Amino acid sequence: MITDQFGRLLRDLRISVTDRCNLRCIYCMPAEVFGQDYAFLPQSELLSFEEIERVARIMLGLGVQKLRLTGGEPLLRRELPQLVERLARLDGAEDLAMTTNGLLLPRYAADLKAAGLQRVTVSLDALDAETFGEMNGLGVSPERVLAGIDAALTAGLGVKLNTVVKRGMNDAGLAEFWRELRGKAAVRFIEFMDVGNHNGWDLEHVVPSAEVLERLAGEDLTFSPLPPKQPGEVARRFVSSDGHEVGLISSVTAPFCGDCSRLRLSATGSLYSCLFATDGYDLKAPLRAGEDDAQLRDRIAGLWQARRDRYSEERGEQTATRPRIEMSFIGG
Ligand code: GTP
Ligand code: 5AD
Ligand code: SF4
Ligand code: SF4
Repeated sequence: MITDQFGRLLRDLRISVTDRCNLRCIYCMPAEVFGQDYAFLPQSELLSFEEIERVARIMLGLGVQKLRLTGGEPLLRRELPQLVERLARLDGAEDLAMTTNGLLLPRYAADLKAAGLQRVTVSLDALDAETFGEMNGLGVSPERVLAGIDAALTAGLGVKLNTVVKRGMNDAGLAEFWRELRGKAAVRFIEFMDVGNHNGWDLEHVVPSAEVLERLAGEDLTFSPLPPKQPGEVARRFVSSDGHEVGLISSVTAPFCGDCSRLRLSATGSLYSCLFATDGYDLKAPLRAGEDDAQLRDRIAGLWQARRDRYSEERGEQTATRPRIEMSFIGG
């Protein structure tokens, strides 16, 4: 077990396997920026499955317990179930999950489950076709994501839902959305964040989680907080007076850097100690130069032990102009 400069443990590794996506969500990969001629990463720059497995194994040796695959859209990476199979075999990988937009789940859910994936977190922002089409940038219908969710449930995968709330876009329909979907999966509402450099973020478009809860409560419900299931959890869970759960991810109004236990590996093999980092730590060069496991472990441990990131707690005028990695590159 290793700790950083603020005593935080390294517990989660989030692995991005591609920077490509088959959606263009306005808050992540706006179509005007990520258009026809956007230069995505060439295949040759991506870590191989063997290399990803090796980094994951070394990190599990340093105390990591949770692995999560992300993208872009991870299911666009060819043969992804083969990577899942490699990771599921590793000692210490107690939790193996994936964040996905769900569109390719009808094709892959059964293979992912068979390969050892435990659960998926599916992004879905609205049930209204026009609203969702506008938010995903390509007019894709919510039914296609719902088909993915159903495929995951049928395959026996655990399912959570991520819903980014943007004022003036999907905030009016939140209560209806929650009532409709809470029986299928754990719904979590996420405050629109200032990630990346292109999503035109401003505070006026953030709906504070407290307001989300008020909208869900309406005239007749009240909410009580539930204790975290694990330390370092990003979602605060609440239960309504009629017994239904909701999660709120409030990076803007209630930052959770205090026990942030996450390290992120980009598809190109760089490590990022914060979602809002400017630069990564290049692990691919030493990996490909033939360093042994002990040398790589020392590099990773050194990076974590020097870590002082607490972006969401520092967010303000000074941080606004800092360049940041793209969400689609590091996977949220
Ligand atoms: P589990 O607890 O393992 O189910 O996953 P999770 O709650 O971390 O879910 P997920 O990885 O899908 O993240 C949910 C949302 O929280 C996404 O929008 C992430 O970008 C955001 N998020 C996750 N980790 C962090 C973090 O370290 N910092 C910030 N600011 N946001 C994060
Ligand atoms: N603010 C909040 N959440 C975001 N996500 C992507 N961009 C943003 C943003 N700007 C979420 C996606 C997905 C997860 C990886 O991150 O909806 O669920
Ligand atoms: Fe793709 Fe997810 Fe970003 Fe939407 S939020 S553009 S689905 S990576
Ligand atoms: Fe962790 Fe950075 Fe997110 Fe804070 S802003 S919780 S330090 S990733």
